[in-house]
Amino acid sequence: MFAAAPIHAVTKHELYDELASQARGLLHGERDRIANAANFASLVWHAVPQINWCGFYFYDGTELVVGPFQGKPACVRIALGKGVCGTAASTRQTQLVRDVHAFEGHIACDSASQSEIVVPLVDGDRLLGVWDVDSPHIARFDADDRSGMERLCAIFIQSLQ
Ligand code: SME
Repeated sequence: MFAAAPIHAVTKHELYDELASQARGLLHGERDRIANAANFASLVWHAVPQINWCGFYFYDGTELVVGPFQGKPACVRIALGKGVCGTAASTRQTQLVRDVHAFEGHIACDSASQSEIVVPLVDGDRLLGVWDVDSPHIARFDADDRSGMERLCAIFIQSLQ
């Protein structure tokens, strides 16, 4: 059985290095999307400080539908191009939002959220969905979080092959 080791990272680089290594171990040998998404969300939730929601929205061919997550109950369906998640999905670009109130069309699922990062999950040409992390602090996420979260998402996508 996999047991997440305590993380004693000092820098963000160390945190994401350690998380990448733990994610590889946690998802190794399992290809089920729901199982891996659930464990991935739990791993990040317990290791990344100052967040109030993290989870998946999967693309069902029409819109985004909420998947495994940690945090308060969330909006179930998001149209492509709507909100931060729908924008990440339609542009296929990571959205780093320092103040969600300044993002036109932001969808407030938890009023505590102040900043947000959303990484599109793309396998080749295929949109799988998005990975969304919210924080109750303004400007919680920076370029290091972007590269770290993108690296973790690549491990998630790889685990499904
Ligand atoms: N804030 C997101 C909606 C999802 S929740 O934050 C969980 C958005 O604008 O897409």
